[in-house]
Amino acid sequence: ENDILEKLPLKGKTVLITAGPTYEAIDPVRFIGNHSSGKMGFEIAKTAANSGANVVLITGPTNQSVAHNLIKVIPVVSAEQMYQEAHNYFDNCDIAILAAAVSDYRPKHVANQKIKKNTNNLVLELVKNKDILASLGEIKQQQFLVGFALETNNELENAKQKLKKKNLNLIVLNSLNDKGAGFKSQTNKITLIDNKERISEFELKSKADVAVDILNEIISQLNE
Ligand code: CTP
Ligand code: CA
Repeated sequence: ENDILEKLPLKGKTVLITAGPTYEAIDPVRFIGNHSSGKMGFEIAKTAANSGANVVLITGPTNQSVAHNLIKVIPVVSAEQMYQEAHNYFDNCDIAILAAAVSDYRPKHVANQKIKKNTNNLVLELVKNKDILASLGEIKQQQFLVGFALETNNELENAKQKLKKKNLNLIVLNSLNDKGAGFKSQTNKITLIDNKERISEFELKSKADVAVDILNEIISQLNE
């Protein structure tokens, strides 16, 4: 009976995944966010769990749901919370895949009360959020670290730079130029670039199939 389980390629591995958008509070009723559906991260989580991995899925606010005894879901709201939880779980993971669309900035001040419309112009001052992926790259030991790059121009060059700068093993370039790819769609068109600058381009496909391509690449690199 254990024969089947032995064949699960990620059995005994712990995979940390971030997914979804983050919401950055402006006041008690408003926030800055983005259109990330969370679907890509959830598909990666499901595929990893179905391959036998223990999955920690740290997710911003989404409509996605998952029930799998190998997936522990950690819901967060802001980039700061996602940063804290990612660091809580990073030490004990083997693979970290950061698919979240983290807000790059947050309001400098969060109003305690609802902001009233009593001026004609309102200027919000924003400050930069910590880069979760880069911070994990700095403390990385044996972990296989995977990031995403969402680009609209100069795609390959920008993605390669992110891979280097953030000390990644692999980066998933998400091409927004293609119709049917990106945040709200059910499909993605990706290119994988590893830290030896090996590049593989994939067809436009469902996010579930993209998840399989990404995990297959990680597994083959871990077995190299
Ligand atoms: N990321 C992160 N923490 C942030 C910002 C981004 O962990 N504060 C991660 C994302 O989850 C993704 C990768 O970094 O895996 C790249 O995100 P992207 O927005 O493409 O790049 P940035 O480094 O934020 O640069 P820019 O938005 O200026 O292109
Ligand atoms: Ca960004």
